[in-house]
Formats: sequence, C-alpha cells, structure tokens
Amino acid sequence: MPKLIGHILTGSLTDGFLMRIAPDAHLEEIKTGKFVSIVGKHHKFFSLITDLKLEVTHPDILLFPPTKQETLLNHILKQKDMYATAELKLMLMLDKNNAPMPVKTVPPHFADVFEASAKDVALIFGDEKDASKKFFTIGSPLDMQTPVCLNLEKLTERSNGIFGKTGTGKTFLTRLVLAGLIKRQKAVNVIFDMHSEYGLQARTEGKGKAFVKGLKTLFADKVVIFSLDPDSTRRRGGMPDVEIILNYQDIRVEDVLSLGHELNLHSTALEAAYLISAQYKKDWLQALLEHGSNLKEFAESIGAHPESIAALYRKLKRIERFPFFKRRAPGAYKDNNSVIDQMMEYIGKGISVIIEFGNHTSTFCYLLIANIITRRIHAEYMQRTEKFLGSQKKEDEPKKLMITIEEAHKFLNPQAARQTIFGTIAREMRKYYVSLLIVDQRPSGIDPEILSQIGTKIVAQLNDEKDIQAVLTGVSGAHNLRSILASLDSKKQVLLLGHALAMPVVVQTREYDETFYRAMADTVTTKQMQEFIEEIF
Ligand SMILES: Nc1ncnc2c1ncn2[C@@H]1O[C@H](COP(=O)(O)OP(=O)(O)OP(=O)(O)O)[C@@H](O)[C@H]1O
Ligand SMILES: [Mg+2]
Repeated sequence: MPKLIGHILTGSLTDGFLMRIAPDAHLEEIKTGKFVSIVGKHHKFFSLITDLKLEVTHPDILLFPPTKQETLLNHILKQKDMYATAELKLMLMLDKNNAPMPVKTVPPHFADVFEASAKDVALIFGDEKDASKKFFTIGSPLDMQTPVCLNLEKLTERSNGIFGKTGTGKTFLTRLVLAGLIKRQKAVNVIFDMHSEYGLQARTEGKGKAFVKGLKTLFADKVVIFSLDPDSTRRRGGMPDVEIILNYQDIRVEDVLSLGHELNLHSTALEAAYLISAQYKKDWLQALLEHGSNLKEFAESIGAHPESIAALYRKLKRIERFPFFKRRAPGAYKDNNSVIDQMMEYIGKGISVIIEFGNHTSTFCYLLIANIITRRIHAEYMQRTEKFLGSQKKEDEPKKLMITIEEAHKFLNPQAARQTIFGTIAREMRKYYVSLLIVDQRPSGIDPEILSQIGTKIVAQLNDEKDIQAVLTGVSGAHNLRSILASLDSKKQVLLLGHALAMPVVVQTREYDETFYRAMADTVTTKQMQEFIEEIF
C-alpha cells in the first residue's frame, strides 16, 4: 500500500504545485528530490519534491510558541495550525493506458500525493529485464530500493555529460555507464583515461577494499588497452594490448590550434605554423624541430616572422620529450600498421579502446593526444558513414561510437569548441555515429552552445552557482531543479535528466562492487549449460 504523504493545495504547470504535508507523515523523512505520485481522477502525475517549507495559520503562534510542556496545545496546533508544505514540479503523467506522456493538464484540488511505488518507477524508467536489453540500472530513487534505468539506446543518440565537483563519484559513474554500454553492446567506446582509472583497477576511498575492478578486468575480450606509458601499465600488473607510438607527422596544425589556450600561443605563432605546413605539409613539425639551431633562416625561407617562429618552437619543443613520438625517416610515408589503424580495426569489431596516459598526466599531453586520435577517428567515421549512405547495406552501417573525455572544459571552452574536433562532434549531433561522453567538474567552463546540445546529463553535487546555472541551461523548469541540485549529498547521489530518461529524477548511485561485477559477468543459461554438457559426452 503506497504511503500517503499529503495533498495538493494550489499551483500551476509553469510554477509548480504546493502540497500540504499530511499531519501524520514523518516530516523529516520527506526530502527534496523525493519521487512522488499524485493521483488525479483520470491520470496519475509524477513529480519531484523541489522545496519544503514550515507554515503556521496565524502569526501569533510564532510570537508566542507553545513550550515543550504544553503537550495538549502542541497537539492541537499540530492538527490544524502548524503544518509543512512541499513544492512539487509535475514532470510526467500517465495516460489511460498507463503510457507516460508530457504533463498537459493539472490534478484537481486536494488530490492525494503518495510516495511513488516500485511499479511506478519500473513503468516510467523501464526494466532491466526487458527483452530489448536497452535498460540499464544506474541507481534507485531517494529512500527507495527500486532500480531506475537509463535507456541506453537513447543515451547513445546524443552526446552526454557527467558533472559534479571533485570526489562526488563522476569517475565511478562513468565506469558504470561504460560498463552498461559494453555489456549491452549499445556502443563502442574510446576512453581517454588520463589517470589510468578505467582499464585495470582503480583506487577507492573509505574502508574495506582499496581497489575496484576496471573495465578490462570485467570485460577481457571486449576491451583493449592502448598505453602511452607501457611501463606504468605493467607496474600496475597489466599488459597493454598495444603500445602507442606516434610520428610527428601525425600532428596537424589543427591539433596545435586547440592547444593555443593551454600553451598561451599567440595567434601570430599559429599563423606561422600554417606557413610552415603550407611548405612542408605533413612534415611541418619535424621541419620546425629540426631547424632549432637556425630558426631565423628557417623563418625567412618560409616567409614568417622570426619571433613568431621562435615562440612556436619554444612551446612545441616539449613534444620532443615525449618518448612515444618518433621521428620518421624523410619520405617514409606509409607505415603499414599505424597505431590508429589498429585502433580503428578494434573499433570496427566492436571492441572498446582505453587509452592510458600512465605518467604522462600533463594537460598538454592529454589534449594533444586526444585531439590527434579523435580527429583521425572522426575522419574515418565520416568515410564509413558516407559509404553506408551510398550502399545502404546493413553490414556497412558503422557501429555507434562514444568518446569519453575528462576535464572536458579544456576541450570545449567557448574558444576551443569553435575550432576543435570535439566541438564539431558535439555540434553535429552524431550525424556520423560519433558522440561524446564528457566528464567535468567545471561545467561553466564549457561553451553554452555545446551544453545545450547535450542529450543526457548526470549531475552530482555542484557548489558554484555558475556551474549549477551552466548544467541547467536549456532545461525546462530549471528553477525548480536548482534547489534539488543544491541539496544533493556530497557523494553517490545524482540528478539524472534528459533524453535517456522519461523525467528528471534524483538517485542514489548504483554501488560499484562485487554485486555489480557479478551482474556484469556473462551469465550462462541452464539451456546453454545443458548443450555444453551434451557436447562433451
Ligand atoms: N557508485 C559508487 N560505488 C562505490 N563507490 C563509489 C561510487 N561512487 C563514488 N564512490 C566512492 O567515492 C570516491 C570518489 O569517487 P570518484 O573518484 O568517482 O570521484 P570524482 O568525482 O571522479 O572525483 P575527481 O573529480 O577528483 O576525479 C571513490 O573513490 C569511491 O570510494
Ligand atoms: Mg574522477
């Protein structure tokens, strides 16, 4: 029997509704973010509690409050004159056939408000056991044990974001979502793993176990690790599947362009880079680095300003220190098995790629590598998509690809978003089957246009007003969700909203632990077991 918690007093669709909390409901059990249902005559409405307030019928009660000893007075006042209200924002209603639809009407006066039931949750957010295999449990509503599912098919239709300040559980959530996508084979993933947290194992805070399993450990044959620092991977007890070796020729001027902000490069230095590439084409960077001792003549030979060339040289010289960049013999253009070709092969087979940075954790390195690789992947996907559009054969259709980047504001700040490949991918909305999963603690640093394109947002606690405003750009009813965001726990609690969910909801994040590993392990059905045994004997 669902628990009655109050009834509707007044309100409107735009501003939300006011509920009077029932006198016998436990006030302190009613929290913001709680998921409730309102039973009208023909429809059932669903809502989150967005705010709570204490009220009295007469101001004198506050001037002369009853003392603790006046139990009778207290009792009487509680029945009639002292009460609490909650604000509700209606998010969804069920039509006559119990199908969810947008709210177009209002519940009547004094309609009963209940705690949502497990059945309601399953009806709205789907059920993991559904044959379509598109639902994946991400957590449960506040104070409930019922699973809330993400619709993975919808999730992969757009770019998505996971936001929250440091230590709120973003990386853990990202790992959960990626595990879902890999397990259910709804998208291939490329993960730029700056802190080596996704592949083998990752640290966890608190008591008990110090480490949790990584995606490669959970899905050995569906994930490969490409490492920029194979020694670091080996030290952590793993073997990288591929060691990343790149050539200077893999770096284009566009890649450096996106580093402009990070390197504090003046636009004249970038122009100089274009001048070099006009003459030396793919060899431009190698040419620049080789002319370190006679930069002045080099500048003259290509018609660039010597000071701009010198500045460019100074900033890009750092690249020489990365052991994974190799010089290529002049003229040797075609190396048959480049790292990125290998990566594309794996992706083509539906195997996800984790790119580990090991000890190369500088932002400079992260941005550079992510740009080089993503630019190539995107170009390849454009070709594959065009081929598919031409042939229209099912087997030519590219697999959906999701690219995970942390510290996304460094790729997608207003300046970078206009110029870089990540901006392009976020804006073109997976026209070419590629989308982003951006993980960030400072969403206000991301270009607002990109933020407004994000399909599904998973938002943990944020303190900065600017960040809260940023994640709620373009969200209807933002004003109501703001107070929910402000009252989230500092860990393992998130507001989910957007394309992959029928309505916004606050959840307690699914625990990433042994139970989760077991759920991800391949389960063998009894029938398969029987066939297996028959085969042996
Ligand atoms: N779903 C979860 N299951 C188990 N533990 C979790 C979960 N979410 C968070 N934690 C705990 O919270 C800690 C912090 O989480 P996490 O490392 O994901 O934070 P973060 O938001 O990525 O922080 P940062 O911004 O510093 O990278 C983890 O070490 C882990 O102990
Ligand atoms: Mg993290």
